[in-house]
Amino acid sequence: MGKTILQLEDVSYSYQHQSVLEDVTLSVEEGQFLGIVGPNGSGKSTLLKIALGVLEPRKGTVTIFGSSMRKQKQKYNIGYVSQKSNSFQRDFPATVEEVIAAGLASKKGIIRRYNKKDYFLVDEVLEQVGLQHLRKRNIGQLSGGQQQRVFIARALISKPKLLILDEPTVGIDRESTKQFYDLLHHLHKNSGLTLIMVTHDIGVVTTLVDQVACLNKKLFFHGTRSLFVKQEKELLSKAYNHDVQVISHQH
Ligand SMILES: Nc1ncnc2c1ncn2[C@@H]1O[C@H](COP(=O)(O)OP(=O)(O)OP(=O)(O)O)[C@@H](O)[C@H]1O
Ligand SMILES: [Mg+2]
Repeated sequence: MGKTILQLEDVSYSYQHQSVLEDVTLSVEEGQFLGIVGPNGSGKSTLLKIALGVLEPRKGTVTIFGSSMRKQKQKYNIGYVSQKSNSFQRDFPATVEEVIAAGLASKKGIIRRYNKKDYFLVDEVLEQVGLQHLRKRNIGQLSGGQQQRVFIARALISKPKLLILDEPTVGIDRESTKQFYDLLHHLHKNSGLTLIMVTHDIGVVTTLVDQVACLNKKLFFHGTRSLFVKQEKELLSKAYNHDVQVISHQH
């Protein structure tokens, strides 16, 4: 077993009086790829925000990279791509390379002045996501799928150990989605990056990830992909409270 990167113990959360997470215990080991599934409003994004330290659990503990979130509020090296981050206005005044370099801002402090080394890093991540040709383009003029890649690049530029993705393929066509999953697969296998991804794409959950968490306020299941596949139908109908039509397993 590898090093534990993230550990949630008995975590509960509520917004005002609405309880959205109850007694969630979950751990992620170094180098794992965890897929989180569950219906709309089941607490998936909330869970990610708790893992990121953006929200504090009402109950329970969060340990990240071996230290308590409460004790250490310092910025951990976690890459995060939030839900619906690929919807920039057409006239948003920043180029692709500027948006990506902004991922270094937390390291560089408030005064952002980029040097040659920074632009080398921009080159490196642009190549990883296959967008070198668009670096000078205005971000708002890119398609949703291309913008998504820019956000992945921005998350990768600070060389995180953990990358957290919240429904990264919403609104992206099939071919781009496939390329995107190939990229994640490559990052996971070749860079040893630990990944946590929320998705509604059951096809990808049953092929790409190695651990699955099934959430609907409570954690219904957390285990290996093969264990999930064996009980897929029961687990999903339990979590979704109805029969789920399982869409094609395309990978
Ligand atoms: N800032 C907030 N204030 C109040 N309630 C919230 C807030 N954010 C989320 N909620 C509520 O908490 C519940 C869980 O929301 P969350 O965004 O975690 O769900 P989700 O599983 O990510 O859903 P989706 O698949 O639609 O993205 C929902 O009922 C939602 O309405
Ligand atoms: Mg969400």
